[in-house]
Parts: sequence; C-alpha cells; structure tokens
Amino acid sequence: MRVDRFLSNLPRFNRKQVRLLLVERRITVDGQTVSDPHHPVSEFSRVLLDGEVLQAGKPARYFMLHKPQGCVSATADPQHPTVLDLLDEPDKHELHIAGRLDFNTTGLLLITNDGQWSRRLTQPQTKLPKVYYVETEQNIGPEYAATFAAGLYFAFEDLTTQPAELELLGPRTARLSIIEGRYHQVKRMFGHFNNKVTRLHRERMGPLELDSALAQGQYRALTDAEIQQV
Ligand code: URA
Repeated sequence: MRVDRFLSNLPRFNRKQVRLLLVERRITVDGQTVSDPHHPVSEFSRVLLDGEVLQAGKPARYFMLHKPQGCVSATADPQHPTVLDLLDEPDKHELHIAGRLDFNTTGLLLITNDGQWSRRLTQPQTKLPKVYYVETEQNIGPEYAATFAAGLYFAFEDLTTQPAELELLGPRTARLSIIEGRYHQVKRMFGHFNNKVTRLHRERMGPLELDSALAQGQYRALTDAEIQQV
C-alpha cells in the first residue's frame, strides 16, 4: 500500500493532513524519512510520526523445510499430518506455503508470512525455475525433452505450459526445471507419455536450494542473504 493511503486509513488524519505530514518530512518508514506519497508500506514496515509509533511492523518470517513423504502441504488437514505440524514456531496460523508439494513429494518447501515474497517465488511471470529430481516407472524417451521445451497443453486450465528443461540422468531418472507450479504439473507432464512418476523431489526454487544438512522433516530459518535473493 502507498504511504499516503496507509496514513489516510488511520482515523486521526484526513488527506490534507497526510499531504502536510509528508511535505514536512515527519514520517519515517523503517528508519527512512519519507516524503513521496507513493512510498510503499507493508504490514512489516515500521511507521513513525515524529518518533511516535503508528505501526510497529510485524516481523517477517521465512523458513525452509525438507518435506518428508506422507504429509500434506496445507495449514490444516482432518486426516493427515501437515507440514506446519513439523514447525515449532509461534503464530503458525500467520504462515503460508510458497508453492505446495503433493502428499508423497519430498524436498524443498518454503514457508513464510510474507505474501509479496512468496508471490515473487511462485508467479510464472517472474520465471524462477523450480527444479525437481524425478524417477519414473518406464524409460524416459528421447522425445520428452523437446515436448517439454515446446510446452504441453493442459485442457483443464486451457493453457500451454511454459518451456521446461529436461536433463536425463539415467533411463528412468531425470532433472526437470519448470517455471510454473500447476496442479500436479510434473506428474501430468510425464503422464502425457503414460509414464508414471514414482519419486519426486524438489531440489530448488529460484535461487534457493534445499540445504543438504536438513534431514527429512527438519527445517531452519532462511538467512538474510537468502531472503534478499528472491
Ligand atoms: N508437480 C507434481 O506433480 N507434484 C508436486 O508435488 C510438485 C510438482
């Protein structure tokens, strides 16, 4: 939200007063004096007027989890354990998952309370690759790579998938890099060739790689450098 809208939404200022506060350089956002009415303010910003706190700013939180098989990428599930059950953190209801994984898929899961950050990671427009290690029931044919690179038509969503890169590792193992995360996307891509995915593991999302020190079910906070890379 723009800072002028943020201030006008507070009951104590009208729009004219807001303009004046900004011109008089009495507002700071995260320690920086702000006079531009377009300056962005989020729920994580600390906003002060003459040093008085108007908004304290929520701490932004970011975690990487090594998702095991047999748990659901959801915040609540009536039947199965969820990935949030693996986190020993307060206020878990504020957290969400940036790019879900299927029940039996393992690997990198990013969990945060920062919606803008997770959108940058998952939106196809930002073209950040999601990299998967894949094992299949049948041999992976030489024609797969070209088909994936050209894009596959998904009738349900009425769209053609963005170009994906396939690297063959063995007759039934591969590394696949996709830049969107459609529902069951990897399984459906191999399903096009009637080839069942028997193991799926996410290694990387954009610049963030699964920490090899994390065993399945373990997690850690992201470092500032990792957060900033997205
Ligand atoms: N594609 C799938 O089919 N499943 C996942 O869990 C992730 C990507």
